[in-house]
Amino acid sequence: MQFKINGKAVELDVETDMPLLWALRDELGLTGTKYGCGVAQCGACTVLLDGEPVRSCTLPVSAAIGRKVTTIEGLGGKSALQKAWIEKQVPQCGYCQSGMLMAATALLARKPRPTDADIDASITNLCRCGTYPRIKSAIKAAAKL
Ligand code: FES
Ligand code: FES
Repeated sequence: MQFKINGKAVELDVETDMPLLWALRDELGLTGTKYGCGVAQCGACTVLLDGEPVRSCTLPVSAAIGRKVTTIEGLGGKSALQKAWIEKQVPQCGYCQSGMLMAATALLARKPRPTDADIDASITNLCRCGTYPRIKSAIKAAAKL
């Protein structure tokens, strides 16, 4: 099956019901996306599918055929959000942060000037370190609010 990951065309020969997360990590070596709960609850595995955040631990890889997948590696380390993340010292243990950044990236693409309510509604990922206030502040910094 074929799809585009971070701008590159890839071809994979795997079972169609393999979770996308497994394909990314184990087949393609894109280990920036993390496995947390495995049941679409925590958001650690969030990637973008045609720009929309999806939980890749439960999405079959076949759902990505012919579509564009963006992972944390695809942000290139220099997006306004990633810079704000560093400036605001958001990550603590760091485990949830790839998923947080992908959800925040999708939010700013859809709403360049999000309100607190927009942020609360869009960032449904879990962080056991409680970085939520820093995440909000970094999103606002990236959005220049
Ligand atoms: S690992 Fe996918 S939502 Fe938790
Ligand atoms: S930074 Fe530790 S779980 Fe979020």
